[in-house]
Amino acid sequence: MPLVAVLIATSTAGAEDALVSAVDAHLASHPDGLEAFSFDRTRYAGDLSSLPIGVFDSGIGGLTVLEALLTLDDFHNDTLTPGPDGRADFHDERFIYLGDQANMPYGNYAKAGRRDFLRELIFKDAIFLLGNRYREEGVIRHDKPPVKAIVIACNTATAYGLDDLRAAVNRWNLPVLVVGVVEAGARGVLETGHPGAIGVLATVGTCDSGVYPRTIQGTLGLAGRRVATITQQGSADLAAVIEGDPSRPATIAEQVAADVRCLVDSHRASQQGAEGNPLTTIVLGCTHFPLVEGEIDAAFAALREDPTLASCIAPVRHYVDPAQWTARQLFRELAAGKLRRRGEASPEARDRLFLSVAAPTSPAERLNADGSLRDAYKYSRQPGQFTEDTVVVPMTRRSLPESSRRLVSENLPTVWKRLDDR
Ligand code: DGL
Repeated sequence: MPLVAVLIATSTAGAEDALVSAVDAHLASHPDGLEAFSFDRTRYAGDLSSLPIGVFDSGIGGLTVLEALLTLDDFHNDTLTPGPDGRADFHDERFIYLGDQANMPYGNYAKAGRRDFLRELIFKDAIFLLGNRYREEGVIRHDKPPVKAIVIACNTATAYGLDDLRAAVNRWNLPVLVVGVVEAGARGVLETGHPGAIGVLATVGTCDSGVYPRTIQGTLGLAGRRVATITQQGSADLAAVIEGDPSRPATIAEQVAADVRCLVDSHRASQQGAEGNPLTTIVLGCTHFPLVEGEIDAAFAALREDPTLASCIAPVRHYVDPAQWTARQLFRELAAGKLRRRGEASPEARDRLFLSVAAPTSPAERLNADGSLRDAYKYSRQPGQFTEDTVVVPMTRRSLPESSRRLVSENLPTVWKRLDDR
């Protein structure tokens, strides 16, 4: 076991600091950014506005956030005043996207007792975006540009990693913005402003972290609003079902119906669903869930037919998609930091999308038949290993798993157009 792994495994008090120290020690020993999980600090000098924006997620779900970034038109690009001007707000920007598909779902690590390992994955995602290294057809390349902002498109990664990454960019003295979907989603709840109870649908990990209730109450409190009634439901399966994971037998409609039922039941059981306090605002607190908003609303409508549940569910539900609010927040923060790219991007300055896959050297017992990592291996790992059991490769239409390809091509047309047709 490498020294850093031993340090983390044997440290009890301050285990979280041991993880941070291990990451920092790894970076300090590879300042040129040529090794995996390292970056070259000297590339962060001067005006950063022409650098791309980095976006990462545990997989392809975060492409819903990229789609929102690519299509947002809520501001006048020249005057920065609110209102559409017929031109995408991020028209002149370019994006680097990482989907850590090989290590997903992130939503189940905390339950498996692997919270620190998840935090380390999140550090590694951010370091990938800051660095220049990836693999293409077996060759390590170092021509990826660094990024001027990091958007944590994943709700679970925001819950377990936003504070770590904000502290890290300060410690590393990087003038890089870090934006997460949860704060933006909470702002969406505030600005949507409907009375009635709030329901949060997310992964098990996001719900266990309590990040949405905490952030929503904080955001409402700062705006002088009363404490809200919030009920959450964590789904261990819905994201995977939406991705078409063959190990999940339920259809989308069945899984949605089960999860919505659980949310309504716990709202009712907590005595909060009394007359006058029905679930009214629903936060889609997982990257994948906006893709099935129609099915989710249909499930609420079906449950409302049951007279014992009708008073727990508002006749009209309002949905908050944190992706949209994240895009708005990023626009404002880039403008405030004078980090917006000015002028058309040159033709060679294209968006670049990447995803992780199991390392080609992985022993057979670690892998499923389709080449993905087995859960038994995935959830047994400890932090402190800076060897590559997964590698980052370009995401192209062909490198996407079949079910993901269908999902993107059918639901995310702007992202689909930007994906390399190889
Ligand atoms: N991207 C994750 C999120 O938004 C969902 C998928 C996962 O569990 O990795 O929480």
